Amino acid sequence: MITVKHGVFHLQNERSSYLFRVRDGFLEHLHFGARVSASDADALAARPGCGWGDSTLYREGSNANCLDILPLEWSGCGRGDYRESPVELAQNGLPISTEFRYTGCEALKTPLPSALPASRGQATLAVYLEDSTAKLRLTLLYGVLPTVFTRRAILENCGDAPVSIRKLMSSCADLPGDWTLHTFSGGWIAEMQHTETPVTMARSCLESTTGASSSRANPGFLLAAPNATETGGEVCGFNLLYSGSHYLSAQKSLQGLTRVMQGISPANFSWELAPGDRFETPEAVMAWSDAGFGGITDCFGRYVNEALIPPYWKNRPRPIVYNSWEGCMFDFTEAKLLRLGKLAKQLGCELFVLDDGWFGTRDSDTSSLGDYSVNVKKLPNGLKGLGEKLNTMGLQFGLWFEPESVSPDSELYRSHPDWALHDDLGREDLLGRHQLLLDLTKPEVRDYIVRSVGGILDSAPISYVKWDMNRHSCALGAKQHAFVLGLYDVLRRIFEPRPEILLESCSSGGNRFDCGMLYFSPQIWCSDDTDPVERLRIQQSLSYLYPPSTFGAHVSASPHAQTLRATPLSTRGNVSLFGCLGYELDLTELLPVEQAEIRVQIEFYKAHRRTLQYGRFTRGRTDGGGAVWQAQTREETVAGVFHGVQNAASGYERLRVTGLDAGKRYRLESRAQLLRVGDFGSLLRHVLPVKLNPNGLAVQTADSYYKMYDGQQTVTASGAAYGAGIMLAPRFAGTGYDADGRMQSDFGSNVYFVREVQS
Ligand code: GLA
Repeated sequence: MITVKHGVFHLQNERSSYLFRVRDGFLEHLHFGARVSASDADALAARPGCGWGDSTLYREGSNANCLDILPLEWSGCGRGDYRESPVELAQNGLPISTEFRYTGCEALKTPLPSALPASRGQATLAVYLEDSTAKLRLTLLYGVLPTVFTRRAILENCGDAPVSIRKLMSSCADLPGDWTLHTFSGGWIAEMQHTETPVTMARSCLESTTGASSSRANPGFLLAAPNATETGGEVCGFNLLYSGSHYLSAQKSLQGLTRVMQGISPANFSWELAPGDRFETPEAVMAWSDAGFGGITDCFGRYVNEALIPPYWKNRPRPIVYNSWEGCMFDFTEAKLLRLGKLAKQLGCELFVLDDGWFGTRDSDTSSLGDYSVNVKKLPNGLKGLGEKLNTMGLQFGLWFEPESVSPDSELYRSHPDWALHDDLGREDLLGRHQLLLDLTKPEVRDYIVRSVGGILDSAPISYVKWDMNRHSCALGAKQHAFVLGLYDVLRRIFEPRPEILLESCSSGGNRFDCGMLYFSPQIWCSDDTDPVERLRIQQSLSYLYPPSTFGAHVSASPHAQTLRATPLSTRGNVSLFGCLGYELDLTELLPVEQAEIRVQIEFYKAHRRTLQYGRFTRGRTDGGGAVWQAQTREETVAGVFHGVQNAASGYERLRVTGLDAGKRYRLESRAQLLRVGDFGSLLRHVLPVKLNPNGLAVQTADSYYKMYDGQQTVTASGAAYGAGIMLAPRFAGTGYDADGRMQSDFGSNVYFVREVQS
């Protein structure tokens, strides 16, 4: 709901209110938080009472106004507000001052057409501001959705001389209160490291400068009250619908206002705005909750699932994937893929994804990007033949592409070297993974991608695309933003006419996990690091900003390719269950007992898929030191308990299940989970009635076939008891094998589901 009454602008959704008003022609920020009424405006407004000292006054006299201390919605440059400005412009190479004053507003009946992704189904208010001296019009767009608000800015040059934009943020506001800034940064295979920084007068910024939203700095961030917990306290969440270099900052003023802004990174940014031209910023998203981090997760989860991803995929179950990459890399034949497909189908997978290596002469990552014609040596019956055979087995077929890149060793590059991005001063090309980027700012390059990828998609029964991008774009320079617009154009043209193709975006893992990509691709590959211990951190950090329905989460081999860590298959499955489950390892190497464990993982996933993909996600800890992930729908709760390194004689452990009705009764049941006999080594002689050599043939045979259940538990109790914490089965403590105990070594885990029972 949007109302404008008595000069007060009031945006309200199911959870929160956002209020501002016009003060002396400027937009004064009043409130972002709990639902209030517009008549509260005066009570919420700042009351500047101090002397002005060395400040620059906007107006002198008894009703003097000092912009520097007011909470504002926007600010210009060089007119007395010395805090960080959301806008920096230049003319003839020199910075100019700006002063935007309110001229009017309008509720928009239809969204303005945009080349950038925009949230779907929002009510929009346009607030018009003008700098009459610089001859600029600024439109601030505000959107209302059930659990978030959105903002973006459009700058129009109404003069007759060009203006150069050096910085133009999507949103800016001054929030009262004490805040801690939570950001998520990292790098390849180490995405989403959660950092907490108290907001002080020293500005805190996080920015990506690589041309992609990047694994170095996710665009999403939180401002949390210092006492916020998972279930209580104020938390504001922010994100940006943008996949290029971006910027966020938070800085407290002497008056205690935190100026928070986000938008395209000003680093190397420059955009010439010719007379009559407009420039639009990406859309920013803001959510508020007083139900702590869990509350903000819920706001963003609903937002992404209901108003961001492509409508066809809204609420649709995501298929269980088998992906060929980690099992085969570039080395496969049709026969090998079909053998893997048959095994994947037997285990319960639903979609077979042929990853890299199917086109050109791509037997390594040194060639062929750009040449999307099938390699008939590997696939003599083409993609159509392979796809149809997989379909006959009962599997859908998916395919990998990396359309934004080109290998210097490719037909495409040999015929069009000028289609690649090169250093602007003609320096030697810098390669990343042996490749260059295509110049998506050129219409002929975009047309080629749309034609070649579209042609392949129509030539075979393809239901899924993994769209990869494996290098940073240092040659982009001033073209960065135009490149991102080019990417969105290509994605729109390929996938809007083919809405039923499930697009999973990937960029060396999670190098482009952002709301801009989610607008086109309902799921994103979180990280090339599939070690479950690492994934616990990566997926947990992502979960503050994005729902599990967006996480590509695969079980891979152990020891792990990135960490050399050995982990139980049960834990690799349990972590991947909380996302879009897939398997990415050579299935021909699995022991029968491992196949049995995967079969039960998949059966469990199918039975609880709705909850695991679309349930309300929260994080917690047991009092025995286990990390808890909980996914909840009206029908049931699924909870995972994950441990690190095992301690001897570990104590009792209680699991709190939140969000249940205290007066109702519920039954908890553990997921069937299997162990390998070989895990017990020479302990077997204590576990089994017969004496066996742990390295002997009998044990090796038993290890392949024999199933031992692990951590079986059922409990029936009231919602109140679950809230207080129910006692979990004991963990291994030199006690021998017990199917009702948790036979955990390092990195053990269990998953439970809880449903109401009639008392
Ligand atoms: C990137 C991706 C991987 C895989 C390879 C293929 O590294 O992140 O998942 O697709 O490319 O070359």
